[in-house]
Amino acid sequence: MARLKTFLPLVLSAFVVLAQAKITQDDFTGVGHILVLNSSNWKTAKPEQKVGCLDNDGRVIKEKSLDECGTFVRLNDYPYTLSSKEGNCTFSDERTVPNTDSYYGKRDHAWTCNATYSAIIYDELYTINGFNYPLLCWGDIACFYDAKKIPDDDEKVPLWQFRWGSQQMDITPGHVMLQLMWSKTGDYPKRTDSESIPGPRVQLKPNMQQPLLQGQKARS
Ligand SMILES: *[C@@H]1O[C@H](CO)[C@@H](O)[C@H](O)[C@H]1NC(C)=O
Ligand SMILES: *[C@@H]1O[C@H](CO)[C@@H](O)[C@H](O)[C@H]1NC(C)=O
Ligand SMILES: *[C@@H]1O[C@H](CO)[C@@H](O)[C@H](O)[C@H]1NC(C)=O
Repeated sequence: MARLKTFLPLVLSAFVVLAQAKITQDDFTGVGHILVLNSSNWKTAKPEQKVGCLDNDGRVIKEKSLDECGTFVRLNDYPYTLSSKEGNCTFSDERTVPNTDSYYGKRDHAWTCNATYSAIIYDELYTINGFNYPLLCWGDIACFYDAKKIPDDDEKVPLWQFRWGSQQMDITPGHVMLQLMWSKTGDYPKRTDSESIPGPRVQLKPNMQQPLLQGQKARS
């Protein structure tokens, strides 16, 4: 009994440490699913806000089971990009649908994974050390995404980057603001010497300004 009493506080403090563990670049590696969160605030974003996942084509779908979600692999060497069985994933495929409702996103193309596309460093998604969860950002610290709606059963909804500026300060009217989260399911299929993936220069600090992580501000 005396042993149990001394053991219990130790277990509790270990749990506290675990709950506070912050994300590092190692948390966005290997093979996994990409969950879609209904979130407009990276500070409070959590898995409970999940409204779907990305399929192998890169579209947002309603997640009925994780098996229906796409399976993505992150390259662990340059250009550190994602691919699914459909190919390398990018926002720059001009054959995908543009975000015509958006003031600033009219020429943005939906995320897609394309069998013949060779990925480049600008296609990289990355996470930020210090996040509570492995949220995925793109480009110039753009950690939010834009979609017309949250998908219903069997709908496939295109995903665009979120842009804002003086003419459209918030999400495209009528659209939803989303975040992406890595849900790792395994390590690389072929074990290569694990080289550590460089992160972005930005690091979270307790008093960090939130606008820094709001998305692509359009220069007028
Ligand atoms: C998504 O988030 C918005 C804003 O918080 C909320 O109004 C809406 O009900 C949410 N939708 C779903 C399906 O979770
Ligand atoms: C895939 O990408 C290549 C190179 O950008 C492009 O030429 C091709 O049309 C794309 N294919 C599809 C099916 O979108
Ligand atoms: C995907 O992109 C990587 C990195 O550029 C490249 O090595 C690979 O050949 C590409 N795959 C295809 C199928 O084009």
